[in-house]
Amino acid sequence: MNQLILMREGVRPVEAMAAFVKDLKDDDIVALAGYFAQQPPKRTDEALDPARVKAGEALSTQLRCASCHLPSLGGHEQMPRLAGQRVDYMFDAMKAYRDNTRAGADTQMSAVVYGLSDAQIDALAHYAASR
Ligand code: HEC
Repeated sequence: MNQLILMREGVRPVEAMAAFVKDLKDDDIVALAGYFAQQPPKRTDEALDPARVKAGEALSTQLRCASCHLPSLGGHEQMPRLAGQRVDYMFDAMKAYRDNTRAGADTQMSAVVYGLSDAQIDALAHYAASR
């Protein structure tokens, strides 16, 4: 829900979303968030490389992703679901946290991915997608 508010207010500008969020009222955002929260998560259909999944699992343990995103990686409160999400989306999201280009993002993630290589981020995305 916060993401839509941040986009509407221009704190997190996402060009592809701009036209859709600009006229949303707070009540619309609450209703949309409620609707999407009730939908069963759809798993990615991307092919996952087992070696990268394994490397990502080790990194995830080391960096304690589960402490915020839960052991299932199902997310809770403001921590989004990672389990089954698309690799390409999560790869881009984590790179944007690392490179400080995800405007308006909660800064907790920038600290987590600070100093990671693209290959490490890719491995983490594979592992999270596999959960
Ligand atoms: C200290 C708590 C914390 C830890 C530890 C943490 N995260 Fe996050 N993560 C967050 C928060 C909060 C957000 C939402 C940030 C925002 O506003 O964009 C987030 C967002 C994300 C997103 C973007 C998801 C989306 O749908 O946009 C990904 C991907 C992600 N985290 C992966 C990870 C991985 C992988 C790890 C372990 C390497 C990890 N996180 C560890 C708190 C945490």
